[in-house]
Amino acid sequence: MKIFAALLLTAVTAFPQVAAEVNKAYKTKEGRDKVAKTLDNPNRDKNQKPEEIIDLMGVKPGMSVADIGTGTGYMLPFLSKAVGSKGKVFGEDIADDFLDRARAKVKSDNLANVELVLGNETDPKLPPRSVDRILVLDVYHHFDYPDKMLANLGRALKPGGHLAIVDFYKKDRPDHIRLERDDVVKEIESNGYRVVSSRERTGNNQYMVIFEKR
Ligand SMILES: C[S@@+](CC[C@H](N)C(=O)[O-])C[C@H]1O[C@@H](n2cnc3c(N)ncnc32)[C@H](O)[C@@H]1O
Repeated sequence: MKIFAALLLTAVTAFPQVAAEVNKAYKTKEGRDKVAKTLDNPNRDKNQKPEEIIDLMGVKPGMSVADIGTGTGYMLPFLSKAVGSKGKVFGEDIADDFLDRARAKVKSDNLANVELVLGNETDPKLPPRSVDRILVLDVYHHFDYPDKMLANLGRALKPGGHLAIVDFYKKDRPDHIRLERDDVVKEIESNGYRVVSSRERTGNNQYMVIFEKR
């Protein structure tokens, strides 16, 4: 019995769901419907500056790009335009009803170069070595298993590919954000990446840090 209890404790502490509290609002369909309204707020472009983010990521025509945690697919029309007809965009999420909304956008906007992917909390299920750029916009603090996600994202990057984290400062949203930017950087570095560039403010008062695999 003692051994069983010890094994259970090890399993629980070895694989903590670090974002469990933040993700509570996402556990029900009602919760996700509420979030969807904020993600699709028609005034969002003004603050979020999607084109600036894409520019800073160095997205170019013909590239293959993944939007991890695409939600309702807010970034997809912008990314689709930036990579053009010879490029490809993966819009990935772990919630199928968010992807339904993204699917509707792909159809209504005729985004022929976008493929939607249902991943899970540890694996975005992207093909290996398939993407030049990965965007994680307002999503890193939702990763329940950051180490596993980072390993699988690394597998999906082409050699020389970049991972861009855009997120809020903890000091601006202390109840919602798990780590301050410098600790996010340390966590990602300790999972086999190095910093390529960093910008203090972009998008919706968010920081952006771009990484490559070591
Ligand atoms: C605040 S929303 C941001 C959505 C989108 N990036 C945007 O800015 O409009 C967070 C999203 O992360 C997704 N998410 C949470 N954990 C995830 C994971 N491990 N992998 C992929 N997506 C995840 C949620 O389902 C949700 O769509």
